Amino acid sequence: MPTTQSSESVEKLKADATRALRAADSAEQLEAWRVEYLGRKGRLTSVLRALGSLEIKERKAVGAAANRLRTELESLFDERLLQAKSNTAPAGSIDITLPGRKSGSGGLHPSTQMIREITQAFNEMGFQTIEGPEIELERYNFDLLNIPADHPARDQWDTIWVDSDSRSDVLLRTHTSPMQARVMENTDPPIRVVVPGKCYRYESTDATHEWHFNQVEGLAVDEGITFADLKGTLYEFARRIFGPSRKVRFRCDYFPFVEPGVEMSVDWNGEWIEILGAGMVHPKVLKNVGYDSDKYTGFAFGMGPERISMLQNDISDIRHFFRNDLRFLTQF
Ligand code: DAH
Repeated sequence: MPTTQSSESVEKLKADATRALRAADSAEQLEAWRVEYLGRKGRLTSVLRALGSLEIKERKAVGAAANRLRTELESLFDERLLQAKSNTAPAGSIDITLPGRKSGSGGLHPSTQMIREITQAFNEMGFQTIEGPEIELERYNFDLLNIPADHPARDQWDTIWVDSDSRSDVLLRTHTSPMQARVMENTDPPIRVVVPGKCYRYESTDATHEWHFNQVEGLAVDEGITFADLKGTLYEFARRIFGPSRKVRFRCDYFPFVEPGVEMSVDWNGEWIEILGAGMVHPKVLKNVGYDSDKYTGFAFGMGPERISMLQNDISDIRHFFRNDLRFLTQF
């Protein structure tokens, strides 16, 4: 039965060819294999040539099987050839007398390092670190913080709103301050927390602006907290981060959720550089979360760890933090 024999020979050919291919592991052996099986006078080519002598039905079946096998063998061959090439180092390229090299190890991202430094300074002063949602509701990001829809201060924040069929009050938080309201809503005083996390703003980027960045928020609420507590805490923070002799300056500033509001700057080679905003929690904010604003007072602050790291490490462009360029990251 010649026909059965032909299809059997495709099977056998496949078994022989794959076994031989596995055994060949140098470029020379692979070339010999290629000539034997896929070459112009090779075994597979002979099977294909012999198709003409078969009956039409058999011809189709055997032809299809043989062509399939050819494709399969060709790709197996390419794979083995690549392997063989990568296994064979060019002669003389390995000096086995060289000492071993230390393997590189990963490290914390510079933003993470700065966030940890900042939160640790506050942790040591009794503040607890917590985190909150990056996708936030308008209520927390704005309303409860005394920034109603028609408040001009909303223009300060170029907001990225989330497209949703079901609601129109979802956004990427523009600051970490919404966590002030979330914490107060869920906890009774005394409160001392720091909240690190990502924030997002719809803005074009330049050396000092990114559309996403980190902030560290702080909040302390209790009976009898005064502006002196705010200053004392932030002085101590500046001493821990910038060293004991660093000069610090407070000036009036405006933020809708504090009253009075301030900005704190540090002396940097004779120049005042603003590093954070702060203030006494606005009575309206305390009332918004259901606190008795006659009984409780508090202070809040917010800062950008990337900006502080830029100062400390003499980094000229905030965009470096998020480019994932190892030439930058490995310097930390
Ligand atoms: N949320 C403000 C911003 O993103 C920063 C800030 C200012 C936070 C004053 C505060 C604060 O808690 O008291 O610009």
